[in-house]
Amino acid sequence: MAESGTFDPNLFLDPETGRNPQAFYKKARAVGAAVPGPFGGIEIMRRAEVEFALQHPEIFSSAMEAVDLGQSVPLIPLQVDPPEHSKYRKLLDPIFAPKRMNLIEPDIAQLVNEFIDGFIDDGSCEFTTALAEPLPSSVFLRLLGLPVSELAMFLEMKNGILRPAGDDLEQVQAAQRVNAAEVERFFAETLADRRKRPQEDLLSMFASAEVGGDRLTDDEILGICFLFLIAGLDTVTDTLECFFAYLAQHPQQRRLLVDDPSIIPTAVEELLRWETPVTGVARVAKQDAELDGCPVHKGDHVGVSIGSANTDERALPDADDVILTRNSKHLAFGAGVHRCLGSHLARLELRTTLREWHRRIPDYEIAPGTELNFMFGLRQVDTLPLLWSA
Ligand code: HEM
Repeated sequence: MAESGTFDPNLFLDPETGRNPQAFYKKARAVGAAVPGPFGGIEIMRRAEVEFALQHPEIFSSAMEAVDLGQSVPLIPLQVDPPEHSKYRKLLDPIFAPKRMNLIEPDIAQLVNEFIDGFIDDGSCEFTTALAEPLPSSVFLRLLGLPVSELAMFLEMKNGILRPAGDDLEQVQAAQRVNAAEVERFFAETLADRRKRPQEDLLSMFASAEVGGDRLTDDEILGICFLFLIAGLDTVTDTLECFFAYLAQHPQQRRLLVDDPSIIPTAVEELLRWETPVTGVARVAKQDAELDGCPVHKGDHVGVSIGSANTDERALPDADDVILTRNSKHLAFGAGVHRCLGSHLARLELRTTLREWHRRIPDYEIAPGTELNFMFGLRQVDTLPLLWSA
C-alpha cells in the first residue's frame, strides 16, 4: 500500500474531490491498488482488486463492524455474510424482480409527469426538492405500504441517519444513534400495527414471511426495513442529481438523448459508470490478505472504491470518455452476493425520468453563478437550480 506520506487521505473529503472525483481516483490509482482511507484503514482503488474484494466476502466482510449507522440490529441482507445471506435474498429478490418492477412503469411515468406539471411553466426548479427527492421516495413508500403524505418525516429520518448534524465524529455518531433509535421505534410500532391489522403491503407480508423454515423475527424485519429506508429513499435521488448536473453541463451529450430516446438505457448505464453515485462500500477484513502487494490486516476497515474501479484505465482504455451508446460494464450496483437488490427498480426510475423530462424539457441549464457542491460517499449535489424557456 502507499505510504501515508505519499498520499494524503484527507483528499477523500476535499470539496474538489466531490466536484471532480474521476481526476482524484486517477491520482489515487497511480499510487497503488489501495491507499490509506480518510478515517484509518485502507481504500481499494483499482478495478481488479475492487472486484476481488466484492467477490470474496469470506475475506472482506460487510458485517456490522464494517459500518455503524447507529442502529441496534444488522441491516439485512447487507450486514449478513454467506451462507446465511442467501436465505434473505431468496425472500427479497422476487419482490424486486424485473417483471414485477416493469408493471409499475406506467405509474412511475405518471408520477414524473405530475411533478413536471407542477413546475414546467415556471421555467425553473430546484431539481432536488422538485423531483429528485420526492419521486423515488414516493415510489418506494407506495411499494412498502407507508403513507406518502408523511414523506417529509421519512426524508428527515433517512437524512438523520445518512447525513447527521455534528461538528466532529463524536457528535455525528451521537446524532446518528438518536436518529436510528427513532427509526427503529417507528418501524417497531408500524409492525405491531400490521400484525394486528394486516394490509396489502410489504410490511404485512414480512410479518408472516418465513426464511429457512422459520418466521422472520421482529429484529430481522427491523433490519430489512432500516436498510430499505436508507437504500430506497436516497440512492436514486443522488443518482438523478448527478445525472442532471452532468447533462445540464454537457448540452451535446444531452442532445443525443433528446434526438434519440432509444439510447436512454445505455446512457443510464454509462452515466452510472461515470458518476458512480454510491462511490464506495464498506468492508472489514476477516483475515490477513494481500492486494497486488498491498498488505491487508485482519480487522482493518476497508473502503472499496467503486467509483475508482469504474473509471480505471487498466480495465477500460477509454475510461475518461463518456460514450452514452456503449455497453458499459460498471460496478455501480456492486458485485458478488451483495449486488444491489433494487437495481431493476432504480434503472426503471432513472430511464423513465430521463425519457419524460427530456421529452418535455429538452433544453435547460444550471442557473448562472451557481457553484455546485457535491457530497462524497453518497454523491449528492446539495442544490441544483435549473432554468429553461417556459
Ligand atoms: C441508482 C440507485 C442505486 C445504487 C447506485 C445502488 C447501489 C448499491 C450498491 C453499490 C450496493 C452494494 C453494497 C455493498 O456491497 O456493500 C447495493 C446494495 C443494496 N441495495 Fe442498492 N443501489 C441503488 C438503489 C437501490 C434501491 C432503490 C433499493 C431498494 C430496495 C436498493 C436496495 C439495496 C439493498 C437491499 C442492498 C443490499 C443487498 C445485499 O446485501 O444483498 N438499492 N446497492
